[in-house]
Amino acid sequence: MEKTVRAHTNIALIKYWGKADSGLRLPLMSSLSMTIDKFYTDTKISDSTENQFWLNGVKQNGPSSNRVFSFLKILQSKFAVTGKLKVESYNHVPTAAGLASSSSAFAALAGAFCVHYGINLSPVELSRLARLGSGSASRSIYGGFAIWQKGNDDESSYAYALDEKPDVDLQLLVVELNNRQKDLSSTQGMKQAQTSPFFMPWIARNQIELEQMINAIKANDFSTIGSLAELNACEMHAVNLTAQPGFTYFEPATIKAIKLVADLRRLGIECYFTIDAGPNIKILSQLKNVKDITNRFVSEFHNVNIINASFGPGISCLN
Ligand code: ADP
Ligand code: DP6
Ligand code: CO
Repeated sequence: MEKTVRAHTNIALIKYWGKADSGLRLPLMSSLSMTIDKFYTDTKISDSTENQFWLNGVKQNGPSSNRVFSFLKILQSKFAVTGKLKVESYNHVPTAAGLASSSSAFAALAGAFCVHYGINLSPVELSRLARLGSGSASRSIYGGFAIWQKGNDDESSYAYALDEKPDVDLQLLVVELNNRQKDLSSTQGMKQAQTSPFFMPWIARNQIELEQMINAIKANDFSTIGSLAELNACEMHAVNLTAQPGFTYFEPATIKAIKLVADLRRLGIECYFTIDAGPNIKILSQLKNVKDITNRFVSEFHNVNIINASFGPGISCLN
């Protein structure tokens, strides 16, 4: 019986958006995330006569299969192992919709690779491997809050746990406005972002915002965590809008949702937003306000799917 590896997605509160080295996926900034309980990927690898990648029960050809096997080829040569492989993966998260499917996907794939070949690695070593598939995957090795320190080479660029079981009342309401696969992948989007005149200031603010966020988490200060996360996300999207040529992942519904968060705050219902490389919005709130926020979103956006998520666990082997 081949074993299934499960990794949960993570949402960055201080975001990774820009690379120093695209081959090694070395970032230009450190990032900090929360791993999510409600979204995850299950992946299993077995021997096969030909390389094949199945996602959600459907055989994949083209770019997504190529990405999987170019990643696995790097891992095979690193560990001097060979063989054709069948990869079967299930996303319990919308794929390529800005809800971080690549974070759980490449963490689970790196884990499944190690299980298949009987390779025993520390979390930090596994984080480095996952990073080579998708940068954000480096953080999905851990539960709770994780920090990916940018480092300056393959060895020094990995994530570690800040707090795997945080005692912080932090709810993430994921508002699924549009789950269509995006036209511009995160990899391409962050490359284009580097042409913005605001790209250098974005990088320059990383260390200070990261330190402020770590302090806010340690102080269990929801207001500061939320407002910093919102500021950091807006900076990332400002860089996209001012790229040459400019672009945005926002849709009209995204702007409507941003304004609704501001409205709720004016009414004394404290909440903040973060947005990744897609049109969907994630609202940071405390347990006491979840009902009011959800009701308001449901009445403004008909039939919208809202997932009340919180902290999830690190990577695990299921059987
Ligand atoms: P997201 O916002 O979902 O992380 P990205 O553009 O970063 O979007 O990455 C999406 C890509 O990740 C997909 O197009 C596919 O190539 C890859 N991917 C997603 N899920 C899986 C999976 N379970 N296994 C392997 N690759 C996956
Ligand atoms: C906006 O990790 O998906 O979600 O390394 O090119 O695969 P690649 O990019 P990816 O980028 C994530 C971008 C983000 C912010 C974040 O998760 O830190
Ligand atoms: Co991604």
